[in-house]
Amino acid sequence: MPEMRVLMAYTDQPDQFDIATYEKNGGYQAIRKAIPHIQPHDLIEMVKKSGLRGRGGAGFPTGNKWGFVPKDPAIPKYVVCNSDESEPGAFKDRLLIEKDPHQLIEGLILACYAIGAHRGFIYCRGEFFEGIQRLRTAVKQAKERGYLGERIFGSDFSLEIIVHPGAGAYIAGEETAQLNSLEGYRATPRLKPPFPAIAGLYSKPTVVNNVETLCNVVHIVNRGVEWYQSIGKPNNTGTKIFQVSGHIQKPGCFEFPLGVPLREVLEVAGGPLPGRQFKAFYPGGSSCTLLTARDIDISMDFDALMARQSALGTASVIVMDDTADMVKVANRLMQFYQNESCGKCTPCREGTRWMVQTLSRIEAGRGTIWDLKTIENVCNNMAATSFCALAIGAAPPVVSAVQEFKEEFEAYIRRNPHAEERPEMKISYPYL
Ligand SMILES: Cc1cc2nc3c(=O)[nH]c(=O)nc-3n(C[C@H](O)[C@H](O)[C@H](O)COP(=O)(O)O)c2cc1C
Ligand code: SF4
Repeated sequence: MPEMRVLMAYTDQPDQFDIATYEKNGGYQAIRKAIPHIQPHDLIEMVKKSGLRGRGGAGFPTGNKWGFVPKDPAIPKYVVCNSDESEPGAFKDRLLIEKDPHQLIEGLILACYAIGAHRGFIYCRGEFFEGIQRLRTAVKQAKERGYLGERIFGSDFSLEIIVHPGAGAYIAGEETAQLNSLEGYRATPRLKPPFPAIAGLYSKPTVVNNVETLCNVVHIVNRGVEWYQSIGKPNNTGTKIFQVSGHIQKPGCFEFPLGVPLREVLEVAGGPLPGRQFKAFYPGGSSCTLLTARDIDISMDFDALMARQSALGTASVIVMDDTADMVKVANRLMQFYQNESCGKCTPCREGTRWMVQTLSRIEAGRGTIWDLKTIENVCNNMAATSFCALAIGAAPPVVSAVQEFKEEFEAYIRRNPHAEERPEMKISYPYL
């Protein structure tokens, strides 16, 4: 299957970030088509019919999410574009922001129009210095052209967009933590329900959507629902930007219809490094179950990967070849989750730390056969009892690495002459 560039159609063009080039390439036609000619309710129906599912990880149907927002015009509403992108392996939003920021702004305008929001926010990862700059310039340009501000195209619809630099934490990408952060509080998740569509930013109805999700809306409006439905597979429509990293010849972003076989994504990304063979993949970023070389023909879509007990997530394909040491991979990933745990709930705060201690002990040749069971138990408990999805995502990459490559973990454990002895349960508190 060849690449199909829709969102990335112009990302290689050197000055696409400038409004003149964006307009020359057909930009801002979708909002001209929609405002005020398509009624907000009809726009929501279009997005529902298109089958667009959120590209931020969970794959929730976008039109349904917009449809949950109360219609009362007297209630202020907000749209927040989640541009925090901090998951290991993920780098598509950065590309879209830096190379084609107006596409995102146009998508955000459409989302705000659909739900009746007069203020939109772009919560952009703070480390994306260039991206933040590009977005701010793009917002200014869009305002000068009358695409933002009061009474857009003479309609009743007015909109301001605020670009907000992120607070430097992976958890700030979780939608309710992001709303806290936007309000000036520490980025810790909120209890759901109420969901943001009912009580979000400043307790008002709020839609939180990913960058790639919003960019898709521009093309649904421009080219129509039927065109969009014709791409991909039923219930998995549209294209997806796959980000391929790790042991691969040409790491980068590649856009394909959903449902492309993993093998074809990897071929376009140049295949394995010379003399190497693929061993394992995280298909949807670091928070999902590992696939092995046996899965190379799997269809890369939400449903097929869920059926395989993994996830499409952000479609960030992390590739590992036969040189990868799975004990080190598991330990490194768990260290990431331990560092990024916000500490609000005990299973995640303590569980991730306990797992790093256990995996580090195994890696140092001091593990025991009991450790493997402990890893499975603690990870599963953590995933089942934690407050938010960070810990739900921390468990599968490690548990699946142990299950698929148990012999590698056992080889490390066999370096310990006391491997069969049951260890004393000891948790060290460095501050005591
Ligand atoms: C720990 C954590 C980090 C997340 N980071 C991001 C992120 O950087 N960008 C994003 O769009 N969604 C992220 N999400 C998912 C959001 O909570 C939310 O589902 C998403 O922004 C909804 O947008 P969508 O419906 O367009 O996919 C994260 C979730 C969790 C649990
Ligand atoms: S699961 Fe982790 S990140 Fe989420 S609230 Fe609990 S401690 Fe914080």
